[in-house]
Amino acid sequence: MRSGAKISSIGVYVPPKLLTNADLEKMVATNDEWIVERTGIHQRHIVEPGVATSDLAAEAARCCLKRRGIEASEVEMIIVATVTPDMMFPATACLVQEKIGATGAWGFDLSAACSGFIYALQLGAKLIESGVHKKVMVIGADVMSSILDYTDRSTCILFGDGAGAVLLEPTEEGEIGFVDFVHEIDGSGGSSLYMPGGGSLHPSTAETVAAKMHFVHQEGGAVFKVAVRKMAELSETLLTRNELTAADLDCFIPHQANRRIIQATAERLGLPEDKVVINIGEYGNTTAGTIPLAMNTALDRDRLHKGDTVLLASFGGGFTVGTTLLRWEM
Ligand code: COA
Repeated sequence: MRSGAKISSIGVYVPPKLLTNADLEKMVATNDEWIVERTGIHQRHIVEPGVATSDLAAEAARCCLKRRGIEASEVEMIIVATVTPDMMFPATACLVQEKIGATGAWGFDLSAACSGFIYALQLGAKLIESGVHKKVMVIGADVMSSILDYTDRSTCILFGDGAGAVLLEPTEEGEIGFVDFVHEIDGSGGSSLYMPGGGSLHPSTAETVAAKMHFVHQEGGAVFKVAVRKMAELSETLLTRNELTAADLDCFIPHQANRRIIQATAERLGLPEDKVVINIGEYGNTTAGTIPLAMNTALDRDRLHKGDTVLLASFGGGFTVGTTLLRWEM
């Protein structure tokens, strides 16, 4: 009989440098009260110059391997979800592979913005479930500070840098692991949240840089509404088709974009606060990093235990939406 797939270890890393709301008050016309009330964010971690996504990803991966007690050479595959790769190519997965010494691994990057980690998780789980691999490393990592305009108060206050890595392995006797998922993309939302410059449509030139096309552009209000509606809708679909209700869930781990988005989604699902993991206050929105960082926070706060029924939900640029149902087996 084929086995299922489970998360067998986790590691996270955020750079030590903090960017607080007080720091931002000195950079743009904003204030701590506005940021906390509208987003729930108090601080973000950001890299020093010269530190890239692969550095954060490699640190998270090392921590994940250490927790599991295995060598990097045992990893068969590395998927890095990111929208801030070190370079257009090579893939950040290749850079991470070299940095951690995962000499037996193949891999690639996956671009799905804030849903990247959940999408990569499913790919990795399917490769375990199919029997192709026994150890897949899935990493969500972003250095959002590298693509933010720190003169635009509507975007620069939202994001931070960070990474999380999980190891996927076959389930043991009696374990369940990954149960089901519902994913959706909607390209009609593309221009509501995007970085227009630096790709093949608008290769970087002095003009694209002068026009700030290498920064995140966002219609915040539009993104907010769709995020709440779609995360709740896909979560409902996933629960219903697995004959579950919100009452059956032990832990809801959503993408951390805005505290109000998380609370509104949880409210629509009928989830009480004590089942919802929120750590956006400490990290801001780390894009592909938020879900593993929130998983780690849930473990640290003793809110996640072996056997728990867990729902993951994400929303991001694209638009991309992801939901995953799993039994926590760590
Ligand atoms: N500090 C102070 N005022 C700010 C501000 C800031 N950092 N950013 C925007 N404002 C102002 C606006 O200019 C506007 O002023 P005006 O009414 O004079 O025009 C006012 O605050 C209200 O702006 P609005 O955009 O309506 O606020 P909001 O309540 O929608 O909050 C976001 C803005 C960006 C926080 C919110 O829309 C959001 O979080 N959207 C989703 C973003 C997201 O999650 N993206 C990632 C998805 S993965």
